[in-house]
Amino acid sequence: HDERTFVMVKPDGVQRGLIGEVVSRLEGRGLKLVGAKFMRIDQDLAEEHYGEHADKPFFEDLVGFITAAPVFAMVWEGADATRQVRRMMGATDPAEAQPGTIRGDLGLDLGQNVIHGSDHEDEGANEREIALFFDDEELVNWDQST
Ligand code: CMP
Repeated sequence: HDERTFVMVKPDGVQRGLIGEVVSRLEGRGLKLVGAKFMRIDQDLAEEHYGEHADKPFFEDLVGFITAAPVFAMVWEGADATRQVRRMMGATDPAEAQPGTIRGDLGLDLGQNVIHGSDHEDEGANEREIALFFDDEELVNWDQST
């Protein structure tokens, strides 16, 4: 079944000029872009987005990192889209990610891992993250085939 999933090129990816590469990989795989926003994440949004990591020792660094430069936030749609994107992203740590995955090919380290995608295991993560970054009217309904 078709579902929508939240994806974001993180500041390291934006700074290294990898927006196009990430978009290209997801488009190539047949996923449909339904929303996109080039933006800077502020402190409040960062703390909310990463709220589940609030008690982790790396939380402050994580918030500092995600607010340090712009991000490219997106919503992609497709069959099993959340799991598809996660497979294409690869493991969180680029050193563990398979070659051929976005992090396996382009990631530098655990923090600078190019891309964020909603957690497949976390029921409701997609809806929560999409709502955090996008208003309903910013998402576009369209058909890939004409
Ligand atoms: P992401 O999928 O965006 O969700 C949380 C992020 O925290 C994760 O990607 C990593 O980039 C980052 N992260 C996880 N563990 C660590 C760590 N030990 N040190 C720094 N960053 C981390």
